[in-house]
Amino acid sequence: MTSDDLPLAPRADLTGRADIERLVDAFYDKVRHDDLLGFIFNDVARTDWAAHLPKMYAFWETMIFRSGGFTGNPLATHARLVPLTTMGRPQFDRWLALFSTTVDELFAGEKAEHIKNCAADMANVIHAKINGVEQERYDYSKLTPEQRARYASYKPKVLVP
Ligand code: HEM
Repeated sequence: MTSDDLPLAPRADLTGRADIERLVDAFYDKVRHDDLLGFIFNDVARTDWAAHLPKMYAFWETMIFRSGGFTGNPLATHARLVPLTTMGRPQFDRWLALFSTTVDELFAGEKAEHIKNCAADMANVIHAKINGVEQERYDYSKLTPEQRARYASYKPKVLVP
């Protein structure tokens, strides 16, 4: 039996800002050391982590709990990276895999599922829009009613055309 087979410790759902901070810190700890993504932050964007992490706390608090006061422009921020590095499907898939793994390591419940869906929706939209890719998962006319309701529920209206 390897550590991968061990059941995860009992986990509670995300309940507010402190949980968002725990999730974001653990996630970017993985990202900054990741072979595919780390250098995009560290070398290409030269991310100031002391500024980026609070911005991401605000972003996710706004998305999930409707507080947090995020103001920003994720599409423009990521579009600026396209001429500088590769922002393809493999990069977004890695980002999502790290995000989902981190959520599952720390939390379980309705909000935990919602934040993973939300991240996947955002990744699809950002990837499609910044690369100008035809994206069935983003084509609004092809979304399921459940996806439409979820997209419409996100406060930063980057997802709804
Ligand atoms: C390939 C995947 C991704 C990469 C490499 C990436 C990289 C970055 C970088 C370099 C920044 C700027 C950090 C700085 O200020 O230096 C950033 C900002 C940000 N990212 Fe991502 N990102 C990815 C995917 C995502 C996804 C899927 C989401 C949402 C679920 C997201 C949400 C954000 C937000 C909200 C900001 C702040 C935007 C603003 O300042 O307006 N990112 N990202």
